[in-house]
Amino acid sequence: MGDNIKRIKFYFVIFCVLICFPVVRSTNTSTVCYGAPGARCTTHKLSCISPLVIQIINTSYGYRSGCNSNGIADCTDTTCCKEKPGDCFQQFSSDENRQVVRNCSEVETCTVPRFREVNGRECGGTISAYSKIQYSCVSKGILDF
Ligand SMILES: *[C@@H]1O[C@H](CO)[C@@H](O)[C@H](O)[C@H]1NC(C)=O
Ligand SMILES: *[C@@H]1O[C@H](CO)[C@@H](O)[C@H](O)[C@H]1NC(C)=O
Ligand SMILES: *[C@@H]1O[C@H](CO)[C@@H](O)[C@H](O)[C@H]1NC(C)=O
Repeated sequence: MGDNIKRIKFYFVIFCVLICFPVVRSTNTSTVCYGAPGARCTTHKLSCISPLVIQIINTSYGYRSGCNSNGIADCTDTTCCKEKPGDCFQQFSSDENRQVVRNCSEVETCTVPRFREVNGRECGGTISAYSKIQYSCVSKGILDF
């Protein structure tokens, strides 16, 4: 009797390790410039392969000197849209982050329109070069938390 209960507990723990916690398969990073609406280099397209769904890890703006334009017109030169060592970062405002989390959590794909910060106080008060979204693809757990 007692042994059976121990066994049931044991299998429950194994089951929970497999099912209860989101299984992180990869961390993906998307960086896009601010500019022409709808363009490939100005729109975040997040995606996970079914049955995995998106979990937003981090949203931030990247800054680099020489990359502070008011917005790019097309995607012929995307050097300012991709992260480089030495870039300065500032987090999205909590409201912007909330919007991204609301639109993108627990779905397989989502798009996030251009975002920018025009007064990156922690990065010299300039205009952001790109926005950066880091996300993981996790299993849609019944007991997700
Ligand atoms: C990002 O996600 C896509 C779709 O799930 C996948 O094909 C790609 O390999 C991922 N990239 C990285 C760097 O994890
Ligand atoms: C979010 O990303 C920024 C820029 O890459 C980084 O500086 C910061 O430490 C990250 N925060 C977390 C919680 O991962
Ligand atoms: C969230 O979705 C709404 C409605 O589709 C859209 O208007 C808005 O731009 C989206 N915001 C973000 C941050 O993805």
